[in-house]
This record gives sequence, structure tokens and C-alpha cells, in this order.
Amino acid sequence: MTSAAPYIVLRAEKLTKAYPVGRGRRLLALDGVDLEVAAGETLALVGESGSGKSTLARCALRLVEPSGGEVWINGRPVRPLGAMALAALYREVQMVFQDPNASLNPRMTVRQVVHEPLRLHLSMPAEKRERRAQTLMDMVGLTAAHLDRYPHELSGGQRQRVGIARALAAEPNLLILDEPTASLDVSVRGQILELLRRLQVELGLAYLFISHDLQVVRHMADRVAVMYLGGIVESGPTREIFERPLHPYTRALLSAAPVARFGAKRQRLRLAGEIPSPIDPPDACRLVGRCPLQQESCASRRPPLLNVGAGRTLACPVALA
Ligand SMILES: Nc1ncnc2c1ncn2[C@@H]1O[C@H](COP(=O)(O)OP(=O)(O)O)[C@@H](O)[C@H]1O
Ligand SMILES: [Mg+2]
Repeated sequence: MTSAAPYIVLRAEKLTKAYPVGRGRRLLALDGVDLEVAAGETLALVGESGSGKSTLARCALRLVEPSGGEVWINGRPVRPLGAMALAALYREVQMVFQDPNASLNPRMTVRQVVHEPLRLHLSMPAEKRERRAQTLMDMVGLTAAHLDRYPHELSGGQRQRVGIARALAAEPNLLILDEPTASLDVSVRGQILELLRRLQVELGLAYLFISHDLQVVRHMADRVAVMYLGGIVESGPTREIFERPLHPYTRALLSAAPVARFGAKRQRLRLAGEIPSPIDPPDACRLVGRCPLQQESCASRRPPLLNVGAGRTLACPVALA
């Protein structure tokens, strides 16, 4: 039996974002990123703060206009869409933000928050909206009584549940979760992660799950893509990446994390110095000057992200040799 190619819900090709920062200089927040998320899977995007994870999420949805490249959502190119078509697209893909406090309007009750997408995307009449709102509360572990509350009357965990209910209201098949538990108390993080896992199975959702927390990523993701300074340096199945990281940056990132918990036997690898500036970077590997494996060729061009088999990609010819 041959298995059909997976249905791709999100595809980005050479996605680029450069912010002008004065005197003709450009901050390259995204440098030609290729990415695919298949239906029903969780792709985690990991990387240190400032590596471009949020920019990637926002550019994929055109919440921020990309400087270049293409994005397809459920097979449709996003770039040509006008405002109306773009608004309709947000039925299929929704974002959950890091800070539910900042992403919920303090003047809106939970009912208003949850009814809004039902009205906008599905043109549901009021009675049907209310039934759906109650179902959504139930799905995210809240009750109908919470519909009358304002965000400030809820705990951080409850607010994020409302953020998730709002995102799910119009039945998208892809959620982009940008550090969804980073602003929450450690004690409620696990509950929200479990909720997300359960909803994914029940609803067949795909997640682009953004996090800098390797523990969380290992728990949540089917596949992992590692970002460094605006580019993906390595990707592959979660277990493979954690147990046999190939890119020196990934190896350093995992070395810095508590090793015992990942149970991988590998040599520790440290990078020298600090992350360089993303402003006007040279056409070279971004690890030049920091990498113990560095060779002359690393400084002469930026290594492309290549398929290295077993569902893995890698932007380091030296690590492979
Ligand atoms: N509006 C902006 N103007 C200029 N630079 C920005 C802007 N937004 C983000 N950046 C820069 O882009 C880079 C990537 O940022 P971001 O996507 O927020 O990273 P992450 O989410 O991985 O922490 C950082 O260097 C950041 O300072
Ligand atoms: Mg971010």
C-alpha cells in the first residue's frame, strides 16, 4: 500500500522579513525560511529570544507584511489576498498569543470575546452563537458562568483558556501558538499543555508551536525546527533531534539544557561568544566565530538547509562530513 502525501496546512517558502533600522541598514529578522506543517501534526519552532520565531508566525498570517517569499495556507497562496479574503482566511488559521492579558480586550466579557469570531466568520445568529459559546467553554474546561466575566476576573490560566476558545470558535484546522504558556505560573502550564494536546486529538488540529522551552517542546511536538538568527538550522522528528542533534547550534542548545532529562548520550558542545547582530549580516553561516567545527568554507556563504534523509533537514555541511 502506498501512503498518500500528507495534506500540508501551512507552507512557507523563502519567507523573509527585513526591518529598516536607519541609515540604509536592515535588521534581517527572517532570512529565507522554508517550513511545512502537515494536517494534525505539531511542529515546534524553538530558538532563543530574538531568533525570529514571532516574526515568522506573524509573517505567515500577514499580521506583519513579509519582505519576501511565499506562504500557502491550506494550499492557497496568502500573498495575493486582499483585506476581505485575508479576514476569511482567519477562519482556517488562528493564533494563540503568549500573554492572554494583552490579547484580550479588558472591556469585553468572555461572551463577547467568543461570540465575535462566530459572528464575523460564520454569521451565526445570536441563539446559535450562545449554544456554540457554551460548547466552547466546555471544550476548554470552563463553564457557562465564565461567559459573563471580564478578563480581570479570571486567573491567568483561565484567560489563556478563553484565548484558546476564541481561537477555536470558527473551527480552524491550524493554530499558531506563540509561547502559549510562557506567561503562566508553572503550576498551570501543564494543565494548559494537556488541554492543547487533548483538543488537538479531538479536533484533528495542526499546531505550529513556538517555544524556547525544550522540555515543553519535547513533550508537545512531533517535529522540531530549530531557529537561529532568522533562519532554520535544523529540523526533524522530535526524538531524533533530541537524541541525535546534528547542527552545532542545536547541540549547544541541548548541551545548555539539563542533560539527564533528555537522556541523550552526546558530547557537550559550547559556542564561543555572544549571538551576533542581525543587522546587515554577511552571507556566511551565522555561527562563524562561535563554532568549534568551523571551516574556511563556512565564512564564504550561508549554508542552505538541505534534506539529509529520515525526514531531517540540516544547514551545516561540516556536521555531516
Ligand atoms: N517591529 C520591529 N522593528 C525592528 N526590529 C524588530 C521588530 N520586531 C522584531 N524585531 C527584531 O526581529 C528579531 C526577531 O524578533 P522576534 O521575531 O520577536 O524573535 P523571537 O520571537 O524569536 O524572540 C529581533 O532581533 C527583534 O529585535
Ligand atoms: Mg517571540
